[in-house]
Amino acid sequence: MMELNVDLGERSYPIYIGQVLTQPELLAKHIRSQQVCVVTNTTVAPLYLDNLLKLLAGFQVTSVILPDGEAHKDLQTLNKIFDELLHARHNRNTTLIALGGGVVGDMTGFAAACYQRGVNFIQIPTTLLSQVDSSVGGKTGVNHPLGKNMIGAFYQPQAVLADTDVLLTLPERELSAGIAEVIKYGLITDAEFFHWLEVNVEKLLACNTEALAYAIHRSCVNKAWVVAADEKENDLRAILNLGHTFGHAIETAMGYGVWLHGEAVGAGMLMAVDLSCRMGLVEPELVRRTQALLLRAHLPIATPSELSDEQYLQLMAVDKKVMDGKIRLVLLKGLGEAFVTSDVPRDLLLQCLQTSRLSPEHARAS
Ligand code: NAD
Ligand code: GLY
Repeated sequence: MMELNVDLGERSYPIYIGQVLTQPELLAKHIRSQQVCVVTNTTVAPLYLDNLLKLLAGFQVTSVILPDGEAHKDLQTLNKIFDELLHARHNRNTTLIALGGGVVGDMTGFAAACYQRGVNFIQIPTTLLSQVDSSVGGKTGVNHPLGKNMIGAFYQPQAVLADTDVLLTLPERELSAGIAEVIKYGLITDAEFFHWLEVNVEKLLACNTEALAYAIHRSCVNKAWVVAADEKENDLRAILNLGHTFGHAIETAMGYGVWLHGEAVGAGMLMAVDLSCRMGLVEPELVRRTQALLLRAHLPIATPSELSDEQYLQLMAVDKKVMDGKIRLVLLKGLGEAFVTSDVPRDLLLQCLQTSRLSPEHARAS
């Protein structure tokens, strides 16, 4: 088992990676209450809830099973968690456990931030995407019909337990979506990791446990230092959003859940690298390498043809990075060197949007 720490002073917490759900004491030592509420969904519950409940023998446990899917990441579904907490009389001392992917994790974290003005919570992420990204760093929240993740809070968990065995039941498309966020770390901060992925991406697709554990650990190391340096995204943390401004526009325009978050981020990252190239910041070779790696990870590299430039620009204008009415984008000035800028020539941005639609055979069939 591997362990690393997210260093945030009194709110620091460990991330455990490996076969962590075989070790009841690991979970128990991070629970500071008798009461526990497990939040999961209709897909994950039949697979892993019973096993988790066994690990929690001795605690006073209730559970809530949410409908599955990004389309349910909203205030209405969030309310089901509060209904359960109040119905079962959970007090301020209770602990929430998120058992699921990023949707369950983001909603449970937000519920924990709000319930009685804040209770403890633990992340047990069960998708690759949630193990390498969403369970770490304390961004929690829900979607609004007008914008992705627009309602939420920064709220850190007490611990993250990333079990590599649960990834064996993950559908291939979800595994690929997670690999998109893994590739992100190579592009933004870790050129050496990008090279490793160019050699090993097929091992991740084949669910090779050792390769997965290595990729999860390295991704979390990258994320942890960025979060430790800028927890509330005043500056540096925005680089974790490479490709997200384009990706969130795709997710919102197509309807939540039609494109998976990781798929939209993958296509959006290629757009960001392409735009960086058009601005003379990186070589065309990096665009080709990014495209090749995304294709090998079975990710879309072209964007939906029905999404117009005007729609993109409108949706990008409600991105959380917008400041003083100006769109800010994460771009690269080299492999592993991301930065944030609002200084993007409009003609090059439009060229980038148009080029991204040029290979419809590489878009996700929706
Ligand atoms: P998800 O939570 O929808 O999970 C994907 C699918 O896999 C779901 O159908 C889920 O039920 C199923 N599933 C989960 N674990 C499984 C398992 N072990 N076996 C079989 N099926 C399983 O999607 P996701 O990709 O995990 O997360 C995407 C969400 O995360 C988005 O809402 C995105 O906005 C959010 N996100 C948040 C952050 C953050 O910092 N908080 C970062 C990245 C993404
Ligand atoms: N996934 C972006 C962040 O955590 O900041």
